[in-house]
Amino acid sequence: MKLKSANINVMVKACRTAAKTLIRDFGEIENLQVSLKGPGDFVSASDKKVEKILIEILQKARPTYSILSEEVGEINNDKAFKWIIDPIDGTANFLHGIPHFAISIGLENEGEIICGIIYDPIKDEMFVAEKGNGSYLNNQRIRVSGRSKLKDCIIFTGGPKQDSKDRDISLKEYKKFSSKALIPIRKLGSAALDIAYVAAGRCDGFWQRNLNYWDIAAGIILVKESGGFVTDFKGGNDYIKNKNILVTNAKINIEMIEVLSE
Ligand code: IPD
Ligand code: CA
Ligand code: CA
Repeated sequence: MKLKSANINVMVKACRTAAKTLIRDFGEIENLQVSLKGPGDFVSASDKKVEKILIEILQKARPTYSILSEEVGEINNDKAFKWIIDPIDGTANFLHGIPHFAISIGLENEGEIICGIIYDPIKDEMFVAEKGNGSYLNNQRIRVSGRSKLKDCIIFTGGPKQDSKDRDISLKEYKKFSSKALIPIRKLGSAALDIAYVAAGRCDGFWQRNLNYWDIAAGIILVKESGGFVTDFKGGNDYIKNKNILVTNAKINIEMIEVLSE
């Protein structure tokens, strides 16, 4: 890893330690306790175990930082720094034995994400970024793709959940993009990895409605530091507040906004 700041070291340590439990549990998913948060929205004993390990390590290293984590919510402390944690992004994949999920941690300073890590423990792929220092996949610098036309692009999305108020409009958007992109839109089941894949140039764009801050926090800095754009559906900066996020390489942002506003 070329990024060696003290905060990045803490995040890497937290992910590597928690990943051991996650990999062990993935080998024994049939024994896991699972409960339902909402239609199609599950939380497993692993989400909670992984979250506990991450929080313990992060709190030990940075006792004054606040935390927002998916299952436990807010732990308020220092107002300037906050860890934003999704212990398992892609829980549905995890529970079905599909090896595509990740741990995601972002670090916010004065309301801006300054560091991010997205770790896929099964493929041992660690995406890391820090403000001003670029984005990396394991030891390699990553950049967004250079494709400039939607018809040549692979685009990802996720959802919509069964009970989503935006279900119909999301499905319409899916149809529109499917007819304009290189192939019908892909849904791999982990928003954090979807965004990391845009940062790495594996896919060219991603949009989704109703994402929470923990789904996107680490991805925001990864994409910005790899030369891509993160906006809301109108090209503005309200994607955390309005929960609708558009992530693209530097060339197709406007074309995707046009399709979204059709
Ligand atoms: C989910 C995943 C999925 C997305 C959902 C998210 P979770 O997160 O990122 O790809 O479509 O909207 O809630 O529940 O697995 O942490
Ligand atoms: Ca998530
Ligand atoms: Ca989660």
